[in-house]
Amino acid sequence: MKALKIILSIVVMGLIFGGCAYNFIVEEEVVDPTDPGAPEVSFSGEIVPIFSSKCVSCHTTGNQMPDLSPENAYSSLNTSRYINTSDPASSLIYTKPSPTGNHVKYSEAEAALVLTWITQGAQNN
Ligand code: HEC
Repeated sequence: MKALKIILSIVVMGLIFGGCAYNFIVEEEVVDPTDPGAPEVSFSGEIVPIFSSKCVSCHTTGNQMPDLSPENAYSSLNTSRYINTSDPASSLIYTKPSPTGNHVKYSEAEAALVLTWITQGAQNN
């Protein structure tokens, strides 16, 4: 009986600590664009780096529109062609590279950041 109790408590401890171990697996963090309490997304700090890493090879000054180079990205995007703050999910800067399209794609986390930035008013922040 005593041995059974010991074995049982080892199993329970294993479950508890085994369960905790999953907390240490870091997944790609995805913001929720519909969460009004979502932290403010910074255009210069979070959106421009996405453009720099996977867009400017084509979308640069004098090349394919929109110009997504860090110094021109905001002014080229700040038009109703690319951004629709009253229906953020229909914005071309969000839909064109969406993970389901056939153009270069945002990752799920990048798409969520872009949508959150537009939902928060597409500020030059
Ligand atoms: C390999 C080159 C290439 C890369 C990299 C690329 N694009 Fe494009 N993009 C194009 C081309 C070519 C077009 C025009 C043809 C079309 O509309 O599919 C275009 C069109 C667009 C348009 C629509 C432009 C308009 O006015 O109709 C948007 C918005 C856009 N890209 C955003 C992006 C973003 C954001 C990224 C980075 C995640 C990106 N692109 C990466 C080549 C590229």
